[in-house]
Amino acid sequence: MGGMPDAQDAIDRIILQQAADRLTGAAGRITVLEDAGGIVSALPPGVGPVRVHSDSWMSEQRVAARASRTELEVSLDPTLGPAVLAGAQLVLLRLPKSLAALEEIAELVAAVAAPDVLLVGGGRDKHMTRGMNAVLSRHFADVSASLGQQKCRVLFAARPDRTATSSYPRREWHDDLQLTVCAHGAAFAGTSIDLGTRYLLGFLDRMAPAARSVVDLGCGTGVLATVLARRLSEAQVLAVDDSAAACRSTAATAEANDLADRVTVRRADALHGTSDHLADLIVCNPPFHRGTTRDSSSAFDMFAGAARVLRPGGELWTVFNSHLPYLPALRRRVGPTQVIGQNRAYVVTRSVAAADVQE
Ligand SMILES: C[S@@+](CC[C@H](N)C(=O)[O-])C[C@H]1O[C@@H](n2cnc3c(N)ncnc32)[C@H](O)[C@@H]1O
Repeated sequence: MGGMPDAQDAIDRIILQQAADRLTGAAGRITVLEDAGGIVSALPPGVGPVRVHSDSWMSEQRVAARASRTELEVSLDPTLGPAVLAGAQLVLLRLPKSLAALEEIAELVAAVAAPDVLLVGGGRDKHMTRGMNAVLSRHFADVSASLGQQKCRVLFAARPDRTATSSYPRREWHDDLQLTVCAHGAAFAGTSIDLGTRYLLGFLDRMAPAARSVVDLGCGTGVLATVLARRLSEAQVLAVDDSAAACRSTAATAEANDLADRVTVRRADALHGTSDHLADLIVCNPPFHRGTTRDSSSAFDMFAGAARVLRPGGELWTVFNSHLPYLPALRRRVGPTQVIGQNRAYVVTRSVAAADVQE
């Protein structure tokens, strides 16, 4: 997986090294955040049990696989909430790429971890910004950085502001869409509407009007899922995302717009685990990153999943940046694909599922 290590990488190593002299003292009160297995697999069994939360479902699966090969006791929590951090004395964190994601973590650590907690957050120099120090400084009195090593470093945060309260999920009313959008920190686009999503929404009237079963694939904050549930009053909408923050955000957005009974949320990699031939309509604004790396493989997995999950004749509507090589992939993996709209930045396509497609 690009951007996420298969085994221990330089970020894991510097986090472990910089936290080494605190591990034993914090045994039983260690929380690991955003690991993909590289940290957990290197912790000595004696420091457990360790609580772990990783936003990505795929990372969580890797932690589970690696933990099963060690004697360390690990409890995986799919929710970034008080349960995973209450009373923690040491928090080992692979710094998330978005400042909002870091803010939600910092607020929570400050509010519920032990008063003497030390947060050790590691990242690659090229992905670290002053903004990260500023976010941590809003919630901790002591923030400092380690020296660099293999182009990575850690930020230390200590002396939390215990009066902090969580400001997530954040909410924003969009008058033009008559929609409240709710967003946890790590959710794509926050409470704003992505420009590609906004462009796709302009074609809503042309999407399978008789659809009863709809999928929002890579749902983010659930803008497409919620707008479609409102427009197609007979439809059930399944919203799928790899990100826990996205799934919680979508559930909150559906709830805030009184559509929770029509939107079901599932955390998964693409459409793995979803039945064949289930959907009349799938909408997708696919990612073009995995972690911090540009990579189209998630998008291609999504198209292959859509081909399998659509009923024959069902429609996949996709929006993507014009420079991305998705049109041939849609034609090859899903079926006949037409460009329905194109502006300076984005292309909107409609693909019609052929019968008998293998994922
Ligand atoms: C470009 S964003 C679109 C979000 C939302 N649909 C919108 O329009 O604002 C792509 C979404 O795909 C999700 N994603 C990335 N890889 C995924 C995967 N393998 N399986 C499921 N979702 C994935 C990301 O977490 C992100 O929320």
